[in-house]
Amino acid sequence: MKVLGIESSCDETGVALYDTERGLLGHAVHTQVAMHEAYGGVVPELASRDHIRRLIPLLEKVLADACCARGDIDAIAYTAGPGLAGALLVGASFAEALAMALNVPVLPVHHLEGHLLSPLLADDAPRFPFIALLVSGGHTQLMRVARVGNYELLGESLDDAAGEAFDKTAKLLDLGYPGGPALAEIARSGTPGRFRLPRPMLNSGDLSFSFSGLKTAVLTAARARELSETDKADLAAEFQEAVTEVLAAKAVSACRQHRLSSLVVAGGVGANYRLRERLDAAMAKIGGRVFYPALDLCTDNGAMIAFAGSQRLLQGEAPQRGGAFAVRPRWPLDELD
Ligand code: KG4
Ligand code: ZN
Repeated sequence: MKVLGIESSCDETGVALYDTERGLLGHAVHTQVAMHEAYGGVVPELASRDHIRRLIPLLEKVLADACCARGDIDAIAYTAGPGLAGALLVGASFAEALAMALNVPVLPVHHLEGHLLSPLLADDAPRFPFIALLVSGGHTQLMRVARVGNYELLGESLDDAAGEAFDKTAKLLDLGYPGGPALAEIARSGTPGRFRLPRPMLNSGDLSFSFSGLKTAVLTAARARELSETDKADLAAEFQEAVTEVLAAKAVSACRQHRLSSLVVAGGVGANYRLRERLDAAMAKIGGRVFYPALDLCTDNGAMIAFAGSQRLLQGEAPQRGGAFAVRPRWPLDELD
């Protein structure tokens, strides 16, 4: 069964074709980063309009790369939420219209389910049950995943998401947009510990996170002096140490508490090298292992949506037959089952 995946929840347009027998046949992503850069953040209306422009060329490219025609598509999965309402509606309308034209089933998919199942696209995939650490621009959550469709929320951020904290801190340090990868890059040459930042909620005894205070602490340090390039790198390094220390400690606690040895990491911040180093070391210590999606599948993409949709269809979930689309800009993952 060949499932087409459509992702348009934020500032990436993603299209992919996943075959349940042969794996990923093609995937293409267009990122709108350059377009939103001038505004220092995502402009929802511009995002929606750009998704409209990109979807058909991306579909053509994916079909050509996969040596397939439209008629080969057996089902269509699209991101129905959470995300920007207008952006989601573009993907939903496109998927519904194409499904109607091709007379194939169409399935709404939860964006975060896509992220957290994405490591299953790798050859060396984790087995259920596992703990998932979802770290994106909008979410920081620990979940217990029993099977496809069963997600128990164990803890989450009470304020800023980890990616949001990276982005806001990068903005304070004048590193441009989106700041996460840029901050990680200059942190490589910095010395952590010269500035001391807090480890928020490290010893709170639960699996909750809080990252908004860190940004304020960076702001205080930045206001105290004119920051040299070395200062910036040192602050970035300390910030990255603080965030990754808390993320790694809580992810390992979740595995211990639930006696699980597989940890899946998904979402954009999962691309952070320091987070990976820490998680690998901490999980090895308790005899466990960390599973990551391929680097190009860490950020938003259509492959994870095609895959999540295909797994739901394989489980026998009844797809929709046209016209019933409703996007959910806010949609808690544990309401899915
Ligand atoms: O999952 P994602 O592509 O989009 C959603 O939020 O759904 O995640 C994007 C987030 C941004 O906040 C970005 O700054 C962050 O992931 N990010 C990183 C890195 N690469 C992306 N943060 C830290 N280090 C990175 N290498
Ligand atoms: Zn995402």
